Amino acid sequence: MTAVSLPPSLIPTLPGRYYTDPEIFAREQSRIFETMWFCAVRSSDLPNPGSFRTVRIGRESVLVARGRDGALRAFLNICRHRGATLCTEDSGEVKRAFQCAYHAWTYGLDGKLVAAPNLTKMPDLDRTEYGLVGLHLREWLGYAWVCLADEPPSFEEDVLGAVSERLGTAAAIDAYEIGDLAVGKRITYDVRANWKLIVENFMECYHCATIHPELTEVLPEFADGYAAQYYVGHGAEFGSEIRGFTVDGGEGFANLPGITNEQDRRYYAITIRPQVFVNLVPDHIIFHRMYPLAADRTVVECDWLYSAEVVASGRDVSRSVELFHRVNLQDFDACERCQPSMSSRAYARGGVLVPSEHHIGAFHDWVTTKLSAPDSQRP
Ligand code: FES
Ligand code: FE
Repeated sequence: MTAVSLPPSLIPTLPGRYYTDPEIFAREQSRIFETMWFCAVRSSDLPNPGSFRTVRIGRESVLVARGRDGALRAFLNICRHRGATLCTEDSGEVKRAFQCAYHAWTYGLDGKLVAAPNLTKMPDLDRTEYGLVGLHLREWLGYAWVCLADEPPSFEEDVLGAVSERLGTAAAIDAYEIGDLAVGKRITYDVRANWKLIVENFMECYHCATIHPELTEVLPEFADGYAAQYYVGHGAEFGSEIRGFTVDGGEGFANLPGITNEQDRRYYAITIRPQVFVNLVPDHIIFHRMYPLAADRTVVECDWLYSAEVVASGRDVSRSVELFHRVNLQDFDACERCQPSMSSRAYARGGVLVPSEHHIGAFHDWVTTKLSAPDSQRP
């Protein structure tokens, strides 16, 4: 990066090519998404033995499936015979096994090769050797977190550490019992923007007064432009007239049972690198997972999680969904507005971060450090 002389209140952003260059994106895939813990699927999306979902993590298609023993497992979604993609659907349920559509090699729900045509004529084929390639998987907050690295980084440091950085302690998130909540609504956004623009946007609130009228109504402190990271340990307070985290500030639902006095009437936002954003309010959780697909395209799956009773009762969640759905649309529209400009000569040396955005500089440092790390995980 060319050194730019800036007054102390301004620090540079990344140059535009970081948001457009396929080579940089490929390095991000190998050194970030394929090496870190990646929040892949909601565990309850796979309710039964044989339920599966396929997701893209970095350059790989990953199959997450529930076994006969009830456990979730993750595999590379690749047949070990000649490499056909094993499951071509996004989600589904098989009875007992996954069968490749090419030559019918068949894998158990635990990934073992259990059958293949003419197997008896191949007595030297070691079936244990040709099972699906398994990946590390951990369940936390009701999600399956998958790591493609041979030696995963510390979940405690990378994932729980991000939570305690924001909430003061990692345990503070336990009050919300996110693992037990039910998905009241899911919206998938196909955003024509680089994943880092979405992270940067989520990290700052300098834009809140301009583009989020409903959110700043509910959280008046946000109108000052200071983002959730300034509220470490105590969250942002609801406005005095606000009754719930809903599109018009009207009544929401009863607080989740574990909510403490400090968490009541407060909003917390957590970024868990590289691809998760969690918003906590007393009666529901908004949980975003990004799937970066190309330098200029990111799919974001957003879950609105409520107590199981609220979802089972069929109560109308639309007014709380509508608030953050609008916020999402406003944010993603802003990101899409920036993406085409990233390849302009006007942005060749990047832009600037003002004081209320300075913490984004730490994110940029983190990205560039990751990109310069040796690519040890792939042959
Ligand atoms: Fe899957 Fe041949 S490629 S069975
Ligand atoms: Fe925003």
